[in-house]
Amino acid sequence: MDQESKQVAQHFHQTAAEFDSIYTGKKGAFSRWLDQHFRQDMYERYRLTLEECGDMEGKSLLDIGCGSGRFAIPLAKKGARRVVGLDFAPQMLNLAGAQAKADGVEGVCEFIQADFIEYDFGEETFDISIAIGLFDYIKDAGPFLSKMRQISKLKTIATFPVKWSYRAPIRKVRLGLKGCPCYFFTISQLQELYQKAGFKPPSIQRIGKIYFVTAT
Ligand SMILES: C[S@@+](CC[C@H](N)C(=O)[O-])C[C@H]1O[C@@H](n2cnc3c(N)ncnc32)[C@H](O)[C@@H]1O
Repeated sequence: MDQESKQVAQHFHQTAAEFDSIYTGKKGAFSRWLDQHFRQDMYERYRLTLEECGDMEGKSLLDIGCGSGRFAIPLAKKGARRVVGLDFAPQMLNLAGAQAKADGVEGVCEFIQADFIEYDFGEETFDISIAIGLFDYIKDAGPFLSKMRQISKLKTIATFPVKWSYRAPIRKVRLGLKGCPCYFFTISQLQELYQKAGFKPPSIQRIGKIYFVTAT
């Protein structure tokens, strides 16, 4: 893993519980209020991703940068045959494993600690692959998208932070101070990246400060 990836992994290892509390709401009333007002797009991307995955019965799913498993687990509960969650932050995976067990889907879910770009999937492919909140931390998105296309049979779903939003510079500085780099994208950049990765023209939807992209 390169130095920058190590910094991202370390950041999410240390902040795993705090990150997960965005979903659980297990935090102070003021923090919950802030989430409800400033993280609406995260809740909307969650709803849209589950909707876009549709009927999971018998399907296989790869969740790249799965974090605490808040997408992998509900999708497993929708009847997926196999769900692989991959992340390089160990504490995120600890949370995901515990939640999968609590929800009775530990037999369907496998959580793997690895850097997506380095991990060898062998011959395995997946019906659907998702990368939610991952590309924010990827300097060179091209090889990631190419690998996603190669291992996905039906659909890929990914989100990207919008370059020209008022919060982009604030976020860059806030995360930078914590030693975590982050990157932003324009629509034309995304169109070019997807084309170069060999996808058909993707559907790009803007939700607040996020682009929600589905492609085959
Ligand atoms: C913002 S979190 C999103 C987690 C989850 N997808 C969600 O939306 O709840 C981003 C996650 O991507 C992981 N990550 C970033 N780059 C990665 C890489 N190259 N390989 C594997 N995981 C990565 C981080 O460790 C972190 O857990």
